[in-house]
Amino acid sequence: MRTFFLALTVLTASASHVLAQSAEAGERVYTQCRACHQVGETARNLVGPQLNGIFGRKSGTIEGYNYSQANKNANITWDEATFRDYIVDPRGKVPGTKMVFAGLKNPQQVTDLIAYLKQFDATGKRGQ
Ligand code: HEC
Repeated sequence: MRTFFLALTVLTASASHVLAQSAEAGERVYTQCRACHQVGETARNLVGPQLNGIFGRKSGTIEGYNYSQANKNANITWDEATFRDYIVDPRGKVPGTKMVFAGLKNPQQVTDLIAYLKQFDATGKRGQ
């Protein structure tokens, strides 16, 4: 019985460790976006729109940001699948976008980046 509980504790501990690590690694991946995008409670639109609460939101809907016609017409709801498709090749997914970014080809980095961005709700508050 003791061994069982011990094993359970180790399992739980390592599972939460993996999750934390992923968002943490995602923060490093995000440095590639930071020249143009902001997240967090003080986030503003820069070269690109701020990315708070991106998952579940429709493309081209951040108020006060001047999107390209291509992005406005893209009609994408950002979820993990559409975000993956886009970020690996932005101009492939949204031809004519003004986001000048070659794409993130490493799937693990994309997974980590998603974990990082998902922490921010639409107001930029960092929940879980
Ligand atoms: C060189 C500047 C630049 C970099 C680097 C960049 N972006 Fe962008 N991004 C833009 C611009 C500009 C737009 C607006 C595109 C348009 O209107 O066509 C945009 C749009 C987006 C959108 C669509 C937002 C919406 O509201 O529809 C997402 C999502 C996004 N970027 C994510 C990222 C992520 C994640 C990274 C890092 C891996 C990144 N971008 C790197 C400039 C950049």
